[in-house]
This record gives sequence, C-alpha cells and structure tokens, in this order.
Amino acid sequence: MNKIICLKGDGIGPEIMDSSIKVLRSISKDFNFEYELLFEDFGGVSIDKHGEPFTNDLKEKLNNADAVLLACIGSSKYDSAPVRPEQGLLELRKYLNLYANIRPLKVSDSLLSLSPLKPEIVKGSDLVIVRELSSGIYFGEPRFYSDEEAYDTMRYNKKEITRIVDYAFKIASKRNKKVTSVDKANVLASSKLFRKISIDVSKNYPDVTLEHRYVDAMAMELITKPSSFDVIVTSNLFGDILSDEASVLGGSLGLLASSSFSETGISLYEPAHGSAPDIAGLNIANPIAMISSMSMMLRYSFDQDNLSNLIDDCIDRVLNEGYYTKDLDNENYLSTTDWTNKLIEKIQEVKHEYII
Ligand SMILES: NC(=O)c1ccc[n+]([C@@H]2O[C@H](COP(=O)([O-])OP(=O)(O)OC[C@H]3O[C@@H](n4cnc5c(N)ncnc54)[C@H](O)[C@@H]3O)[C@@H](O)[C@H]2O)c1
Repeated sequence: MNKIICLKGDGIGPEIMDSSIKVLRSISKDFNFEYELLFEDFGGVSIDKHGEPFTNDLKEKLNNADAVLLACIGSSKYDSAPVRPEQGLLELRKYLNLYANIRPLKVSDSLLSLSPLKPEIVKGSDLVIVRELSSGIYFGEPRFYSDEEAYDTMRYNKKEITRIVDYAFKIASKRNKKVTSVDKANVLASSKLFRKISIDVSKNYPDVTLEHRYVDAMAMELITKPSSFDVIVTSNLFGDILSDEASVLGGSLGLLASSSFSETGISLYEPAHGSAPDIAGLNIANPIAMISSMSMMLRYSFDQDNLSNLIDDCIDRVLNEGYYTKDLDNENYLSTTDWTNKLIEKIQEVKHEYII
C-alpha cells in the first residue's frame, strides 16, 4: 500500500490540502491506485500542539512513508517566537536529503492576459526548471566575511552534477525530450565541469536533445522566448534566480507546484507559494498549485502517468472554460471548494479518455 504523509500546515494549507485530497479520492479507484493517507502536524500548527515544527514522531513516520505532500507553513504569529515554522521546513528538506528541486511552469491560454509579458511571447510556455538543491555556492567552504573582504566557494563534484543532470534527463524523456543545461562555463571552473558532465550524461539518453546556455543569455531568453524550453537544469544559485524569474510568467503564485527529490529516499511535493495568511479561512485560495503538486506526486513517486495527465489536462480545461479563483479574476470567481468541484466534474466527464 502506498503511504502518503499529508502535512496541511498553516494558513490556507488545510483548505488547499482538502481540495487536492478530494480530487485524489474522486478518481483513484478508476486507476486502481491504492494508498493510505496519514495526516500529521507540521509547521506552526505543530509548534502550537507539540512545541516544535518538526517532531521526532513525524521523522519516524517519514521513515516508513512513500511520499510527502505538504501544503504550506508560516504565520506572523511566530515572527518573534523562539522557534519558527520555517525552521521545520529547512529541517524537513535536510532530513529527507533532498538534492533536486523541480518547478514546472505551464501557461494556460486562458491566463495569457495575466502575464506581465506579451501574450504572443508567453503562449505555449510549458517548461520545468530542475535546480540542484544541496550543494554549490550556498554550501561551499571556505566562506568568509569581514568588512574589508568576503568570499564564498562555488564547489561541485562529479557525483552531485551527474545525479541532478540525470534527473533532468529522466524528466525530459517523459516530456518533450529536450534539456537545456545552464552554466557560466566561459568563466567558472565549476560550470565547466557541469557542462562536461551534462554532455557525458546525455549519451545515456539518445532520444533527448541537449543544448547549453550561459546563465546571462538564459535570463534573457526565459522572458523573450519561454515557449522554446522544455527541461532546464542548473546549479543551486542559478536555479534559485531563474526559477523566481520564471515564476512570473504565469501571472499568479497560486498556480505554481514544486517537488524535491532525494537520491534513494522519499520525495516532497508542495506548492511554491507560502501560507497566504491574508486570505486564510476565506475559501478563496487557489488550489491549483497544491493539486498540481499532488499530480506530480502521482507521476514521479507512483508512476501514475495517465492519472497525472488526466488531472493536469482537466486543470487546463477548467481554466480554458473561464472558471477562475479570486487571484485570477477579482470580479468573477469561484470559491476554493466550487473550483475544486468543477475540476472533479471535468475529471469525471473526460476520464474515459485516459483510462487504458
Ligand atoms: N514553502 C512554504 O510553506 C512557504 C514559502 C514561502 C513563504 N512561506 C511563509 O508563508 C507566510 C506568508 O508569506 P508571504 O505572504 O510572503 O507569501 P505567500 O506566498 O504566502 O503570499 C504572497 C501573496 O500571494 C497570495 N497567494 C499565495 N498563495 C496563494 C493561493 N494559493 N491562492 C491565492 N493567493 C495566494 C497571498 O494571498 C499573498 O497576497 C510567511 O510566514 C512565510 O514565511 C512559506
């Protein structure tokens, strides 16, 4: 039985988690997908109940789980508290040894007008950013700071680059079969190694095309021709910057899913946004990022590609039919629960196209 740990967290977390679970329950039987859900406290809610954001009890449960679905954590209530919910998130990522962060970005036709870029530029954008998460300049030693001088170290080894690039190729081979490796190989030694290893890894994937970009050119192309990319793989620092740049293409934070993977352990699936305390409890949160994260879990942790395709396509169809949440249309919008029900209706309507 597939064991999924569900962490509702804080703010809008419970609302959007409930939506995604409702979607999963509505369709899993049709695909013979069997699972067990374990709802656990995490973040602020865990501090309130247990005095810490990430308990040992949860750690033990994670050791026997197959995937973690996290909504979001955080509240200004803990701003001057001795322990903050965000500490739990950093600990969780470390505990699970997550080295790859994946952020897919697809701009639906009906949302083109929300993008800060011209619709003809954003149209058709459907890309995934694969960011190395556990090494590079954020972790490299030595590092030093004084008022006169400061430095950091951008260090990568063969193993670290190979596993992240390999992950990108695996994803590309399930998508449009193109990888763009981003580096600064004209200047940085660590980037030269990144480029060399990406070429080596590509030999194992003859049906996937590899191309290279310098990060400065990539920053430009991401907003001048975003629709030309499929899977983008890069180091920790470049991925941090490029994934935030890419996040504006779609027009709302409520649309962006993400997932993080370890080498052999379980993976974490979560929306890219925070706990949105300003709208918590109002039933107006956009559940799409959460539902898309759950869909990624089905695809990458449980190989349920058809089920995941069905959910992703129905999200697009419901948006294209003009049903929005408040963040997408302030005038004409559905509540979180009504939008979720629309999605479930659509899934039921077209599921026969996806069941083999
Ligand atoms: N991974 C995480 O859980 C995570 C990530 C970022 C921030 N945080 C925490 O979240 C809290 C709030 O942070 P913030 O306000 O800077 O960022 P946020 O992402 O929570 O909210 C930013 C803005 O986007 C809106 N928004 C976000 N998600 C939405 C959704 N699904 N539907 C509709 N609107 C949505 C919010 O209403 C707000 O106006 C803080 O405590 C922060 O530390 C948590």
